[in-house]
Amino acid sequence: MAKYLVTGAAGFIGRSIAAELLARGESVRGIDSLITGKRANLAGLEAMEFIEGDLAEPSACAKACDGVEVIFHEAALASVPRSVADPVATNVNCVDATLNLLVAARAAGVRRVVYAGSSSAYGDTPTLPKQEEMLPNPISPYAVAKLAGEHYMRVFARVYGLETVVLRYFNVFGPYQDPTSHYSGVLAIFCRMLLAGEQPTIHGDGEQSRDFTYIDNVVEANLLAASAPAAKVAGQMMNAATGSRITLNEAFKILCELTGYKGKPAYGPPRAGDVHDSLADIGRAKELLGYEPKVDFREGLRRTVEWYRESGAASESA
Ligand code: UD1
Repeated sequence: MAKYLVTGAAGFIGRSIAAELLARGESVRGIDSLITGKRANLAGLEAMEFIEGDLAEPSACAKACDGVEVIFHEAALASVPRSVADPVATNVNCVDATLNLLVAARAAGVRRVVYAGSSSAYGDTPTLPKQEEMLPNPISPYAVAKLAGEHYMRVFARVYGLETVVLRYFNVFGPYQDPTSHYSGVLAIFCRMLLAGEQPTIHGDGEQSRDFTYIDNVVEANLLAASAPAAKVAGQMMNAATGSRITLNEAFKILCELTGYKGKPAYGPPRAGDVHDSLADIGRAKELLGYEPKVDFREGLRRTVEWYRESGAASESA
C-alpha cells in the first residue's frame, strides 16, 4: 500500500517529487490524466504504482486516495494563456479536480495534503516582494482557479481537520518541463529554441521580472511541508521561491551564454493576463519549514540546459 500519492505524476513537478520520494525509499502512487502529463516522464519511476485517471472523476480520486497518508497535489492545467483561451477547462482541471480530491482524501482518512499553489494569486500589484499577508488579486482565469484551490485547502483544514499545506510556487523551471507547447514555461521554450538555433519571441519589452525557481528547491519545500509538525503548518499557506528575481532580457542573455546562441530575440506585444513583476518573500517558509533555496538561478539554468541538450527532450514533438 502506498504511503504517498502524487497527483500529476507524469507532469514536470509531480514526476520530480515522485522521483525524490522513491530515491528516499518511500512507497509512492501516482495519478495522471495524461492531458498534459507525458508517459515518457514516468521513465525511471517504475517503482511507483501508476494510475491513469482524471481527478475530475470522483471515482478516480477515491481509487487514488485509498490507503494513502500524504498527498502532493500537483495535477493542474497550467498556463495563464491557456486559461485565457479556455477558462472552463482550467476550472474543471484545477478547481473541480481539487475539490473532488479533497472530498476523497477526507473519506479515505488521508492525514495531509500539500497543494501546489501559484504566485499568480498575487496578481499585478506593485508591491514587492510578495508577502502572504497581501490580499490576493488574480488577473487571469488560471490565477482564479489556483487561488480557489488554496481556499478549499484552508477550509478543509478548518472544517474537517485535514492537514492541508499550500505552497505558492513562483515560476518553477528545470528538467522534464515540457518545452514543446506554446503554453510551456518561458525558460523551457527558450531552452528548446536556442538549442535548435531558433529565434524566440519576448512578449513585451523583456523588462518583466520573475522569481524563477529551480525544481530542486520546490521538491525540497514539498518534502519539508509533508513532514513539518501539524501545529506549525496545517491550514497554512506560504511562498516557495528563491527570494530574488531576474528580467526576461537578463535571463535571455544568460541562456545565450549557456547555449551558444548568437542571435537576438524578437519582441512582440505583451501577453494578456500577464503579471509584470514577481518576487517572493520567503521568510514564512524559512520560519515554518526551515526551507532554504539550495540551487540559485544560474546554476539551475545550467543544469536545465544540460538536461535538454542531453535528453533530446527539446527536439521531441508535443
Ligand atoms: C505563471 C505564474 C507561475 C505559474 C505559471 C503556470 C506569475 C507571476 N507566475 O507564470 O507561478 O507557475 O503561471 O503556468 O503569475 N514569455 C515570453 N515568450 C514566450 C513565453 C512567455 O516572453 O515564448 C513571457 C510571458 O509573457 C511572461 C513571462 O515570459 O511575461 C513568463 O511567462 P510563463 O513562463 O508563461 O509564466 P507566467 O505566466 O509568469
